[in-house]
Amino acid sequence: MTTQIKLENVSKIFGSKPKSVIPMVKEGMSKDDILAKTGHTVGVYNASLEVKKGEVFVIMGLSGSGKSTLIRCFNLLNKPTTGSVYIDGEDIANSGKSTLKKVRQEKIAMVFQHFGLFNHRTVLANVEYGLEVRHYSREERRNIAMKNIEIVGLKGYEDKYPDELSGGMQQRVGLARALANDPDILLMDEPFSALDPLIRREMQLELLDIQERLQKTIIFITHDVNEAFKLGDRVAVMKDGHVVQIGTPEEIIEQPANNYISEFIKDIDRSKVIQAEHVMIKPNALVSTKDGLNVAIKEMEENNISSVFVVDRKREVKGLVTIDDAVKGIKEKKSLQDVMKTDINIVKRDEYVSDLIPKTLESSFPLAVVDEEEKLVGFILRVHVLAGLIADEPEKEGQVQ
Ligand SMILES: Nc1ncnc2c1ncn2[C@@H]1O[C@H](COP(=O)(O)OP(=O)(O)OP(=O)(O)O)[C@@H](O)[C@H]1O
Ligand SMILES: [Mg+2]
Repeated sequence: MTTQIKLENVSKIFGSKPKSVIPMVKEGMSKDDILAKTGHTVGVYNASLEVKKGEVFVIMGLSGSGKSTLIRCFNLLNKPTTGSVYIDGEDIANSGKSTLKKVRQEKIAMVFQHFGLFNHRTVLANVEYGLEVRHYSREERRNIAMKNIEIVGLKGYEDKYPDELSGGMQQRVGLARALANDPDILLMDEPFSALDPLIRREMQLELLDIQERLQKTIIFITHDVNEAFKLGDRVAVMKDGHVVQIGTPEEIIEQPANNYISEFIKDIDRSKVIQAEHVMIKPNALVSTKDGLNVAIKEMEENNISSVFVVDRKREVKGLVTIDDAVKGIKEKKSLQDVMKTDINIVKRDEYVSDLIPKTLESSFPLAVVDEEEKLVGFILRVHVLAGLIADEPEKEGQVQ
């Protein structure tokens, strides 16, 4: 994946002589002390990060930690005190006005927390706004706006005014307006925090759905850890203007960089973050559909296990054979195919543990974990699922049962 946005040592200090404060932060002076001593506020200090094309990158942190200040550096609504902001390889923080204007009009759009709609304009006219600024013809404007109104599920409301809509609907208008410019990058500063929980969840799912269809690069701010982990491919955690950790939700849960982050993720529902592939065990032993029962028994004996998966040549799971059934089968002169169990539970490797729990309970055999091509990549026992919910790492003993 290509890098779309790269921030290099970006700092933003508020005050009359911002640059003069940088050495103090460098020496480790706290944000509070700097404010008391100099009257300057450290908005962001020395942030470096990269966002890939098509990624959902979440910025999370407590109120005042610098999230908005940082996201506003992405499109230079805040001009960094120091550092570089590369968009598609071009440093917009250190180039001329025309480059910036072009990037703002063509590459980046922003969705705000309080919608920022024009109340005297209809839904359609709000969505058309950016296109008007760019001198699109009336007909083009209308077509593009209508298409995006439909994408966000507001078809039929185009002639209404913002104050005739619910909060959730107004935020959809904000989203449609941003999408209408067909930006590569969407900046979203706490876009859903004014919405009630039910609508909020609905909007989260819809955003993921739109992202899947349109493949935008999304920078999303929230101080809700569950929202961050649900939406983010990767999450950056901020504290007092510093980016303290960047990682996938799984990485952050498994290895929080410090106590601040541990405290933050304390209430997270692990079962909705940890996926099958994080708790599964890679199988040491497998038998093929063309093998006989003697081979199956030998595999199980050598690996000290009491059941083994049967796969075909493409490594697709066909069944599972237990040692007892194999021994009995040999006595009764049966084949591997005769005695293998075929009613096994197969799960995808990106299924969440919350969905796996009922499946492990209904079956006394391991769950088979498969990849996108239905190939067997691992197996899961009930104990692994439970370990995934509480411990750092499940025991990787490489054995079935
Ligand atoms: N324009 C400004 N002038 C002076 N200080 C500012 C300005 N904007 C932000 N700050 C300060 O920078 C710090 C970071 O603020 P910021 O708005 O980025 O926080 P945030 O993480 O977005 O918080 P919230 O979750 O409340 O939106 C705060 O201490 C704030 O007071
Ligand atoms: Mg903010």
